Amino acid sequence: MSEPTTSDPAPAPGAAGAGPLVVRTAEELARARAALGTRRTALVPTMGALHSGHRRLVATAREHADAVVVSIFVNPLQFGPNEDFDRYPRPLEADLAVCAEAGVDVVFAPTVEVMYPGPQIVTVRPGAMGEVLEGEFRPGFFEGVLTVVSKLFNLVRPDVAVFGQKDAQQLAVVRRMVRDLCMPVHVVGAATVRDPDGLATSSRNVYLSAEERRSALALSRALLAGADAAVTGAVGILSAAREVLDEAATADPPVAVDYLSLVNPVTFTEVSGDFRGDAVLVVAAWVGETRLIDNVPLTL
Ligand code: PAF
Repeated sequence: MSEPTTSDPAPAPGAAGAGPLVVRTAEELARARAALGTRRTALVPTMGALHSGHRRLVATAREHADAVVVSIFVNPLQFGPNEDFDRYPRPLEADLAVCAEAGVDVVFAPTVEVMYPGPQIVTVRPGAMGEVLEGEFRPGFFEGVLTVVSKLFNLVRPDVAVFGQKDAQQLAVVRRMVRDLCMPVHVVGAATVRDPDGLATSSRNVYLSAEERRSALALSRALLAGADAAVTGAVGILSAAREVLDEAATADPPVAVDYLSLVNPVTFTEVSGDFRGDAVLVVAAWVGETRLIDNVPLTL
């Protein structure tokens, strides 16, 4: 697919059949944003390698807005030194085709230099809820996410921003940032999309070999076992899920669990044994060199 840029005599963003307008710099984005005028605008922040989960984010954005901007940026600030920043997939042409098919109006695909022209001295820290679970196993991750999301909010000035429920803690931390920093953005969560075998869609699934993918299915099986035990309360839920993961720990290849926890979906603190109400069962695990996360919302 040939990539339109703002130097082409481009049709207005969102014009029928035009495909998305692709912009690379803050200035190009400002012009594209101005052309959207007063249309209610939704932002779908992504790191690219778009899949059916992202398609759902765009569809959800479309339900809440008249124009959709997708950002595609692999954000170095949210990767630890030994993480997969360098090998993270970057199939831009395929991503633009997905955006065209999904009726996206504008794609903002900046370079690292555009987003970080110098050292990022001022950052957004998530506080205590960003230091547990993902935050404990990936120090600095949520600070990197919140910093880039705030920059994207400032650049795009969306009315609505859509994030996946698959990254439940990220969604909760972004909601908290919006609330605590009085950001004029309505945050919407979109349900997790699963492949027919149950694996939650993720850009990192491409790393999995067929054998690893088979072992990885233990995550969704564990969550399902936990959900099936919801009536028994927190202890029953965790032990049903743990049983599946313990078995998977001896599979070939094995599943190595970072955490399994039942938490409050807003604060991400662990719920007590006699808790009643909404919770989310979250899991993170390694299969080979690939780290996967998944979760299921539950009512106890
Ligand atoms: O969920 C993601 O893909 C990223 O964390 C996000 C929100 C685009 C920030 O880089």
